[in-house]
Amino acid sequence: MFLALLLARAGIESVVLERRSRDYVEGRVRAGVLDRITVEVMGRLGLDARLRREGLPHAGTTVLFDGEACQIDFKTLTGSVVTVYGQSEVMKDVFDAAEERDLTIVFEAEDVRLNDVTSEQPYVTYRKDGAGFRIDCDFIAGCDGSHGISRSAIPQETLKTYERNYPFGWLGIMADVPPHPELIYCNHENGFALASMRSPHRSRCYLQYSLDERLEDWTDERFWDEFVRRLGPDAGAHVTRGPTFEKGIIPLRSFVAEPMRHGRLFLLGDAAHIVPPTGAKGMNLAVSDAVMLSEALEEAIRGGSQSALDAYSARALARVWKAERFSWWLTGMTHRFPEHGPMERRLQRAEFDYLRDSKTAQTAFAENYVGLPLA
Ligand code: PHB
Repeated sequence: MFLALLLARAGIESVVLERRSRDYVEGRVRAGVLDRITVEVMGRLGLDARLRREGLPHAGTTVLFDGEACQIDFKTLTGSVVTVYGQSEVMKDVFDAAEERDLTIVFEAEDVRLNDVTSEQPYVTYRKDGAGFRIDCDFIAGCDGSHGISRSAIPQETLKTYERNYPFGWLGIMADVPPHPELIYCNHENGFALASMRSPHRSRCYLQYSLDERLEDWTDERFWDEFVRRLGPDAGAHVTRGPTFEKGIIPLRSFVAEPMRHGRLFLLGDAAHIVPPTGAKGMNLAVSDAVMLSEALEEAIRGGSQSALDAYSARALARVWKAERFSWWLTGMTHRFPEHGPMERRLQRAEFDYLRDSKTAQTAFAENYVGLPLA
């Protein structure tokens, strides 16, 4: 949707095919933290009226390790902040704008197929309400997530994939109770916890979850007891308990597919890369891919030069890999790994001590968290 809106702004027509309904996409609980790049793009697209009113700016975050706190002050260290604003709110805003701007979105498009992607005239076929359709394209953007069809349209021998699956997930809940005012990443001997929010009245909280546990064993009472235990007496005292909803498991995975282009097909977002949610980079990376591809398409279509399109994959991947590194590193510092022995535990502690004591280390954290520049 960001790509379609950016292209429309440059006078370039596109058609968006979406497998689900608008309600489904808006109701899906996903990311919650917008970095400065995403906020800037929403502003540039004139999509930020509600974001400015309802988004919650966060000038920093707290990392807790065995009860000790390290504050990271994004604003002082980088001049930038992040904004808590749910992905479902972003989706409402982009769909509203698309409607106002007469963009074509086909919801509930079925059986989407990509054809002749390495030719000069690729085309896409799909079915909707039982009828078949064909779109002749200049370019195809595969923004269809990790399980979509776009990545699989690239031959195996062309694609190099890198993957790491973590031996745990997150158990996430939502509750209509006032959140802890800060974003807190916590490493406790029982595992990771994250205190986040969606609004001043809605908490979003996570616990590290072993993949052999059963979701039904996690009653609300057990969730809140464990959440407060992991946050410790100081932060735990600010936790308000309440009935939970949207309780679910989030797997943790690092994944990259290279290159992000095959002929006239370009991959964006989760179609090409997955980060573990630690560090809140996933949705933001998809937006930065859209910015880079829209610039390259504009240059190709308006300026007649292919060079930015030829550079898209390498340019996007250079930034993707840095976000992969940051998310992997922050996951490593804040979780309990079943395979860790005493040596790894002490090294993890040293990682935290270094962060707490070094302004340079905090600056490195902060500049990654608020969003690296689009080089
Ligand atoms: C969230 O609010 O859902 C959230 C916040 C920070 C993260 C991941 C998820 O790192």
